[in-house]
Amino acid sequence: MRKILIAAIIFIGFYGISAQDLETARRNLMPVPANVNWKSGRLPVTKTFTVAVKGQTDERLKSYIFRAMRRMEGRTILELSRELSNDAGNAQLLIETNSIGNAIPKLGDDESYSLEINDRQAKISAPTTVGAMRGLETFLQLLEGDKDGFYFPAVAINDKPRFAWRGLMIDSARHFQPMEVLRRNLDAMAAVKLNVLHWHLTDDQGIRVETKKLPELYQKGSDGDFYTQEQIREIIRYAADRGIRVMPEFDMPGHATAWLVSHPEIGSGAPGATYKIERNPGIFDPTLDPTNEKTYKFLETFFAEMSQLFPDAYMHIGGDENEGKQWDANQKIQAFKREKNIKDNHELQTYFNKRILKFLQKGGKTMMGWDEIFQPDLPKDVVIHSWRGQKALADAARQGFQGVLSNGYYIDLMFPASQHYAVDPIPADTTLTAEEQKRVLGGEATMWSEWVSPETIDSRIWTRTAAIAERFWSPRDVNQTEDMYRRLAVIDEQLEELGLTHRKNQLMLLRRLANNQDIAALQKLVSVIEPVKEYRRYQVRKQTMLSPLTGLIDAAQADAPGARLFNRAVDDFIGGRETVENQAKIRMLLSDWRAAEADLQKTMENSPALAEAKQLTADFQNLNRIAFDALDALNGKQARSADWSDAQLKTLDEIAKPKAALEFAHLSGVKKLVAAAVESKNAVR
Ligand code: ACM
Repeated sequence: MRKILIAAIIFIGFYGISAQDLETARRNLMPVPANVNWKSGRLPVTKTFTVAVKGQTDERLKSYIFRAMRRMEGRTILELSRELSNDAGNAQLLIETNSIGNAIPKLGDDESYSLEINDRQAKISAPTTVGAMRGLETFLQLLEGDKDGFYFPAVAINDKPRFAWRGLMIDSARHFQPMEVLRRNLDAMAAVKLNVLHWHLTDDQGIRVETKKLPELYQKGSDGDFYTQEQIREIIRYAADRGIRVMPEFDMPGHATAWLVSHPEIGSGAPGATYKIERNPGIFDPTLDPTNEKTYKFLETFFAEMSQLFPDAYMHIGGDENEGKQWDANQKIQAFKREKNIKDNHELQTYFNKRILKFLQKGGKTMMGWDEIFQPDLPKDVVIHSWRGQKALADAARQGFQGVLSNGYYIDLMFPASQHYAVDPIPADTTLTAEEQKRVLGGEATMWSEWVSPETIDSRIWTRTAAIAERFWSPRDVNQTEDMYRRLAVIDEQLEELGLTHRKNQLMLLRRLANNQDIAALQKLVSVIEPVKEYRRYQVRKQTMLSPLTGLIDAAQADAPGARLFNRAVDDFIGGRETVENQAKIRMLLSDWRAAEADLQKTMENSPALAEAKQLTADFQNLNRIAFDALDALNGKQARSADWSDAQLKTLDEIAKPKAALEFAHLSGVKKLVAAAVESKNAVR
């Protein structure tokens, strides 16, 4: 009895609430709303479904409703009216807004809404049109179907975001991302209630913005891949129509190579130095010269134009990873530091920041920068963007600065959604006071683009970013990982209706790699392999910004689904939870994979583009065999000795070495099975 009690306490402590209860409570909502009260009843959806609006409305909301209806049509295959109804009492969906709000969204805009659904009508009420848009996304996530047809379940929802700043950074500098990539990702952002596109527009590898006053900048620094000002205005409009702000980033004084291609005179290198667009990833020396008045004249012109082009109140100046090598090597800069009594490069960078702050202020902008810009005597409205650790955010908040967290949300590093989901901008054990906590504005997922092309970028952003979006919107105690993954799988499919390519392009890449062969076996492999994590990709498989991103590593994604299922079943099996069912699950997965072994070998052998990954076939086979052997031992079919275990672990160590920068994500599960097999009573010691 005591054992059962302890197990129950551990279970409840671990999951808080049972998986079944969570499924009932949250259905397919992501982000989970602040307050949900399920009722009995349902609002059926038929082809006579209509929408009416009441109160203040604008074209943005009308277009949003129109698009929402098209998405409903796509799911229900019902042809719905293209007109709004003027019968508010009888429309199936009534949307009532009190004000239009800001046509160009601003930080802190009211995004709250309430949504009530009964047997007759659904009603979204919101103080602003943007709140109504957020409510519409929740509404679409509630659409369900069963043997009686499509319907919306009866519910009362009151919702508002936990954080006002919920962003996605897209780096258009390393790999240029065309307009359609931005448009479809803005649609996806709106679907999960993100509200800031942080647009990283300059870096060593490119200047992606048209400047009328300094045209050589993008003409020489972009390989012709840049956004015209008209295109930028179009993206800003497109984002505003979805309640999303667009904040540009112009990274300086480091990450500056591409600026210097056309304007070497404002660099800190030796006199006469010339620069070429950088083709490699990493941190490079070229840095703007903070001691040269020409630099400030140039930047004053640049920021004046950019302040006009971008309406958002915030402008990001980067400021990261300036190692100061050119500054240290430059006698003139050293002399300047002595003369001005500037003790180190950080102080020199602060001097630079303060001077460009004036240009930003003149354009009505508030400065934001990566945490390297932090210096207590900067004006208190400068926003600190923390990427190196959560401590920077807390320190800034303590000293009166507002901040945004990205450390923990680096989606380019290929970590699982669960890892990002566990990071909270204000963790439960925070030592910040209530006042200091208010300065934490929110967070941003960061899509650095060293290794993404327009073909693969969606698969790196989604769907993990939906889990991060939930972290920014939903209450902190919405943190149950398995339920997040359950809902993430639903959102994953819904995102496709917005034109996202994260799923279909994986198949396209595999087809291309397979050299006219069937890809079924390759798909099995890809369901258990993932790209190497952090910054290892470049270490083990060198490429440049000009290299094709069409290898097996580019088809592979984070959170390999087969591996996740396998590891979960192994954990439950070894943990003594539903052991019969979980063993059956493990065996089914392994059998499925084993059945693909011969075909996989053939596919690999006949595909030159897969030659680099050939060894993965043998590794895959070995993993299947070792896992089966371990399971047999655990079933008492065959006792396993410590020697056996040593031999398997040695094989597993070899398998653990990445091939073609790919690794098996279920290796840890197989290892656990081997360990359990030796520990079990059947083992021969
Ligand atoms: C950064 O990742 N260097 C901001």
